[in-house]
Amino acid sequence: MLDAGADGVVVPDAVALRDAVVAATEAVWADRLARSLAESRAQGRAAGVDCAVERCVALTFDDGPDAETGRLLEVLAEKHATATFFVVGRNVAARPQVARAVVEGGHLVANHTWDHPRLTTLDDAAVRDQLERTQSAVRDATGTAPTFLRPPYGDVDDRVRSLATRAGLRVELWDLDTQDWRTRDAEETRRRVAAQVRPGSVVLLHDIHGSTVDAVAGIVDDLRREGYRLVTVDLLAP
Ligand code: NI
Repeated sequence: MLDAGADGVVVPDAVALRDAVVAATEAVWADRLARSLAESRAQGRAAGVDCAVERCVALTFDDGPDAETGRLLEVLAEKHATATFFVVGRNVAARPQVARAVVEGGHLVANHTWDHPRLTTLDDAAVRDQLERTQSAVRDATGTAPTFLRPPYGDVDDRVRSLATRAGLRVELWDLDTQDWRTRDAEETRRRVAAQVRPGSVVLLHDIHGSTVDAVAGIVDDLRREGYRLVTVDLLAP
């Protein structure tokens, strides 16, 4: 009978068990992220910003902090405008004081990986390393940890999304690509934003280019003239 019983024992399937743990962990993080986002929006509403009823737009600056970032912060401060900075971890490690100035300027700092690889080409451990090293660098420099990730080149799949969630990061892409890195032309960058913006737009810009920084004051003026409210990505309506 013992032998027969042993034959009937269900051995836990290691793979199924691992998948169940991963799914549960991911669900916990997804819930935590959703709550933190709801909290940000509630704080925004308390401060008079409600993107569910207003025309909001989020300017986002990728790839810094770099030599031009300080000048961009001055332009934004002069305009009383906020933005989201998707920073590269190794650049934060090189210029921690600039990363700190981003946060002190009232902007949102977000994760753009450690050294800008295509995340879908990396294995799980390497993706986690890209995300976590950047989280640490930002936390060390600014005292806050990002909750948004922009994968370089917008290169993302379900596996990378799952790894991001488990690192406490929500993937944020964009809908308005200015191609500023290609044109390197401030007037053209400004023109593209004005021509393509719509309520809720997330505008892709790069603060590593002087021509982009040159465009920002005009972009802010154009958007405000059209009744847009400039917000960080956490305040956009879902
Ligand atoms: Ni980038």
